[in-house]
Order: sequence, then structure tokens, then C-alpha cells
Amino acid sequence: MNKVCIDELELNNRRVLIRVDFNVPLEEGRVSDDTRIHEVLPTIRYARDQKAKVILCSHLGRPKGKLSPALSLRPVAEHLSTLLEGPVAMAGDCVGEGVQAAVARVRPGEVLLLENLRFHPGEEQNAEAFAQALAGLCDVYVNDAFGAAHRAHASTAGITRFVPVAASGFLLKMEIDHLGKLLAAPEHPFVAILGGAKVSDKIGVVKNLIGRVESFLLGGAMAYTFLRAAGYSMGKSLVEEDKLEVARETMKAARKAKVAFLLPPDHVVADRIEPNVPIRVVEGPEIPEGWMALDIGPQTREAFAVVIRGARTIFWNGPMGVFETPPLHEGTWAIAAAVAASGGTSIIGGGDTAAAVVQAGLADKMSHISTGGGASLEFLEGRELPGVAALSDRR
Ligand code: 3PG
Repeated sequence: MNKVCIDELELNNRRVLIRVDFNVPLEEGRVSDDTRIHEVLPTIRYARDQKAKVILCSHLGRPKGKLSPALSLRPVAEHLSTLLEGPVAMAGDCVGEGVQAAVARVRPGEVLLLENLRFHPGEEQNAEAFAQALAGLCDVYVNDAFGAAHRAHASTAGITRFVPVAASGFLLKMEIDHLGKLLAAPEHPFVAILGGAKVSDKIGVVKNLIGRVESFLLGGAMAYTFLRAAGYSMGKSLVEEDKLEVARETMKAARKAKVAFLLPPDHVVADRIEPNVPIRVVEGPEIPEGWMALDIGPQTREAFAVVIRGARTIFWNGPMGVFETPPLHEGTWAIAAAVAASGGTSIIGGGDTAAAVVQAGLADKMSHISTGGGASLEFLEGRELPGVAALSDRR
């Protein structure tokens, strides 16, 4: 990536504002999954070791421009302080006089976390005044929030117009390097595994990867829309009726480009989604009336595993079934095991797929697990991420 990185800058005694993605799940006021916090520690530690005055800012949830105590970053400050084995001060807001005073108290090597950026409407509106207020808090701006890099918000894009230099952190750089290689120089065969509920979320990626991959393996509810578009009846399964035409066009484009486009040849079905619900396996693409396909079947797992075994590069985004509800996790776990066992480079999209791989106990077997669900998809659609585009170019 040809953008200035944090390790190219003088940080000593400077106020360094680092935009991070601490949009993490909270349960009963505590962080329940700290992956995103862990991943940004190298950047925070580096700035601290360089004796920067470290100021962190992030969004959490979608409070829609209003103060919402349940979405305070305070629990994150506590958690971060444990991970850093040192104090993390918490500001009561992210802009304003109180925050300026809090920033002025930060000494070299100390860390201050600002309150949720999205408590102010100016953040998502990318408002100039709000971006300027944030910029006024720092001498150096660093973006390490890969998960929010697809958002053109004040703290990810607007702010860069008002700071002398806008650098990437180590996480953002690593993410772009891994994902960039998928588009620029993947080893072949390259296989894309796509799942999840919605065709609309993945169609841009499919379009951009036709001509780059040898095979697409489709699972999850999005596969039922494709099967419906191919003329099969899908019972009670989730089908996006308004996406049938785009599904047909996509399959045609894949055929024309001679790219394998594999849909599940069998399914696990049930009549409802519920833990330990009775299931049965249906062979063939069609689903009987009254039943819902909720996972890929054993033949599909095997057929997909054969393709995965032969791959040198794998990108996977989207679970194969309702993996949060056992026993409907088995298809997703089987694919996770196949990806883990393959000798190729394996890049896992963020969000649900990352959670599924962690749940399957196979996270450490993957080459890279992205911290950005939406951001990694937009990147692979071939779109420029505003948070990356806005960073200073290396000369
Ligand atoms: C994410 O969780 O994908 C990022 O933090 C972005 O959050 P958003 O979709 O609310 O902008």
C-alpha cells in the first residue's frame, strides 16, 4: 500500500489521534469479543513506546447522532487498560472544551480514549466543523480502523483535510496488503466461498471476482435464491424474489467466463429455526413444501472440500447455514475444517464468518481473518475505501 504508515513518522511528544474500530459486542456492560481490540494493540503499543500522547477515537453501534449511555465506550477503556497493563483515561465526550482539557493533560506514553464519535451527528454526516474539531485535538492523525474504512465519515475521511499528515496504522496496512493481494496477485487456483443470507450483499464481489477465480462455492441462504433462479422450488426457504433476475445474469456471466459456479447438491432442512430442532437431509437441489433449507448437506460438504483442497488461494465470506443454532452449524464447521486443512492462503471476511471460524476452534489455522466485514466486501468489489483513499500518499 502506497500510503504513509505510522512507523514513518516522528511521534515523540506529539498528540497522536488514532481512529480505531472498537465497535465490539458488549454483554452486561462488558466486552464479550475483544478480537478487534487485540488486533489494534500493535499500533497503540508502538505509539506509546514512541512516547506519543496517544488519543484513541472510535464509534460503537449506531446511536444515530444521539447520546446513548448503553453505547458508551467506557467498558472498552476498562478492557483496553487490562490488555495494555496500564491506565487508559476516558474522556466524557469526543469534542469540546472538556475534551481539549483532557487531551492537554495526556503526557507522553499515556493513553486517552474519547467517547463514542457517533453520539454526534457530524460524524456520520462527515460535517466539516466536526472533522475540524477532531483535527484540532492532534498533531498527527492515524487511521487503524479498517472495519470502518468503507465509511466516509468525519473521523475516517473529513478529518484528513485538516491535519498535516494522515497515516495508516499497522492493522489497516496489513488488511489492505492481504486483501490487495487477492485482487492483484493471487496464486491459482483461487476459490471464493460465499454464503450468508443475502445475494445483494455479495453480488458486487461475485461480479468483480469473475475472471479472477477458478471457482465459486455458494452456500447459506443466498444459494437458495440462485437455485430458485435456476428453476427449482425451494419450499419455505429464504429466497430473495427481487434478486432472481440478477442471480440469473450472474450465473450466465460465470458460464461465459468458464468459471465454476457450484450450488449445493443437497441440504439440511427443518421446519423451523430452533436449537436442536429435528433435521433431515434432502438430496438434490429441490426443497419439499413446508420445509426450509438451513445448512449445506453432506454431499455438498464433500464436493466443496474437494475444490478447497486443490486451491492455492481461498477467500471465504458468509456462513453455509444457520451456524449460531446447533445442529445447523455442521456445514459451516465442515467448510472451516476444509479451509484450515488446505495448504493455500486462506483469507476470511469479517463478521459472521470470523465468528464461525473462532467457534469452530480453527482461527489460528487461517492465514488472515479480516476485522472488517463490510469493508472487506467493498474492497473486493473493487471499490475504493474512503478511509484509505484519504490517507497521505507516500512520496
Ligand atoms: C462494522 O462493524 O462493520 C464496522 O464497525 C462498521 O460499522 P457500521 O456498519 O455501523 O458503520
